[in-house]
Amino acid sequence: MTTPWRAGVLTLFPEMFPGPLGASLAGRGLREGLWRLDALDMRPFGLGRHRSVDDTPFGGGAGVVLRPDVVDAACAAALAEAPERPLVALTPRGEPLAQPLVRELAAGPGIVLLCGRFEGIDQRVIEARGMREVSVGDYVLSGGEPAALVLLDACVRLLPGIMGAAESADEESFAGDGALLEYPHYTRPAEWNGRRVPEVLLSGHHAEVARWRRAEAERATRDRRPDLWRSRAADPSRTPAGEGAAPLAARPDAA
Ligand code: ADE
Repeated sequence: MTTPWRAGVLTLFPEMFPGPLGASLAGRGLREGLWRLDALDMRPFGLGRHRSVDDTPFGGGAGVVLRPDVVDAACAAALAEAPERPLVALTPRGEPLAQPLVRELAAGPGIVLLCGRFEGIDQRVIEARGMREVSVGDYVLSGGEPAALVLLDACVRLLPGIMGAAESADEESFAGDGALLEYPHYTRPAEWNGRRVPEVLLSGHHAEVARWRRAEAERATRDRRPDLWRSRAADPSRTPAGEGAAPLAARPDAA
C-alpha cells in the first residue's frame, strides 16, 4: 500500500484532535488508513521544571509569545518521520486560506501544522523553518487549533477514496480561484409552508435547468462576493476576448 497523506499538528491542546475529524467521511478515512493524523503536544519541549513554552514579548505589550527554541524542537520531532512535508503556521497574520492552496496541500505528501496560541509565535522560527503562514479568515480565534481543523477538513475531503464521485465533483463549483459560488439547492416537498421550488427545476428540461443554475450562481457571486466577481471578470481565461467583464447569463429575476 502507498503511504497515506500524513498530517502532523503541533499544539498545546492535543486533546482537540481529531475532534470533528473523527466523525463522518474524514473519520472513516482515518480509521481506514486513507490518511493519518498525529497531534504532538508541544508542552514536553518546554523549558525548566514548568516546561515553559512562552515568554513576554520583547518591546513590551500584553500577553506572551511562543518561544522559537521550543517550537523548533517540536518541529524537528514532528518532521522526523516524513521531513518532506510543508510546515504551515496558523495565524491571523497569514495568507487567506483558499481552495488553490487546499488543492496544492492535498496533492502533496501531507502537512505539519503549527497552532499558535497567546499573542503569537516568535517570527524567527517561522522564517528559519520556512513556514507558510495561513489564516482561515479575518477574525481572531483563541488559538490555531480550530483553524487547523478547518484546513485539514478541506484537504482531507479531496484525498482519493474519502468521498464518492458525486460529492467530489462539488469541488469544482466553488474553487475560490475565480469560480462561482454555488446555485441554491432544493428538494422535496415541492411546496413547503407556502414556498414553492422554482418551477424550472420541476420542468425536466435539462438545458433550462442548467441555464437557470448558471444564472443563479452568477447572481449569487455578484451580489454576495463582489471581490470574487471582479477577479473573475479580470481573468482573461474566463472572459471571451475583447468582451471586458464576463456577461451575466439571463437574469431569472429580470422583469
Ligand atoms: N489563530 C487565531 N486566529 C486565527 C485565524 N483567523 N486563522 C488562523 N489561525 C488563527
